Amino acid sequence: MDRTVGIFVGSLRAESINLALARALVRHAPEGLSFEWIPIGDLPHYNADLEVDPPATVKALRKTVRALDALLVVTPEYNRSIPGVLKNAIDWASRPFAENSLARKPGGVIGSSPGPIGGAAAQQHLRNILTPLQVYLMGQPEAYIHFTPGAIDADGNVATEALQAILVRYMERYAEWIRRFERAGAD
Ligand code: FNR
Repeated sequence: MDRTVGIFVGSLRAESINLALARALVRHAPEGLSFEWIPIGDLPHYNADLEVDPPATVKALRKTVRALDALLVVTPEYNRSIPGVLKNAIDWASRPFAENSLARKPGGVIGSSPGPIGGAAAQQHLRNILTPLQVYLMGQPEAYIHFTPGAIDADGNVATEALQAILVRYMERYAEWIRRFERAGAD
C-alpha cells in the first residue's frame, strides 16, 4: 500500500520556485508514494486562546496531518530562516502539545533559493524546529537547490539531467527512509 506524504510548501506565491521544486519532486518520486498538498495560507495567526475551539482550518490541518505517513517540507529562505507562514502552520500542527500531530512521522526537508547557499540556513532552522517535535528527519541526502532561471518550470519540469538526478536520488532515499517506519494508524 502507498505511503501518503504531506507536502508543506513554505511559500504562498503562485510562481514560487519552491512550489515548482515540490512539483518536480512529486514527478520524480518512485512508485509507492502518494502525495497530499497541505494548505497553510488560510490558517489564522497562532493564538493559544483559540485552542479551546480552534477554527475549522486548524482542525482540518491537524486531522489531515495526523493521518499522513510522512512529511515533506519544501521551504524558501526568508532572512536566514523559514517563512513565518510555515512556522505558523507548524505551531498549529504541534499543539496541544500532548496531541502534536507531527510527532513520529518520517520527515524530509528540502528547498531552493536563487541565493548562493540555496536556502541552507532556512533548512538548518527547520531541522532545529522539527527535531524536538519528534519528526524523524532524514539526515542524508541534503539538498540545497541553488535556483537559476528556468531550472524548473511551473509544472515541475526540470531543465537539466544533473538536477533531475539530484531530485530522483533525493526521492528514492526519502522513500527508503519512510519505509523504515510504520504506516500512520498501523498500530
Ligand atoms: C528572501 N530571499 C532570501 N534568499 C536567501 O537565499 N536567503 C535569505 O535570507 C532570503 N531572505 C529573503 C527574505 C524575504 C522577506 C524574501 C521575500 C525573500 C529571496 C528568496 O530566496 C526568493 O525570493 C525566493 O524566490 C523565495 O521563494 P519562493 O517564494 O520563490 O518559493
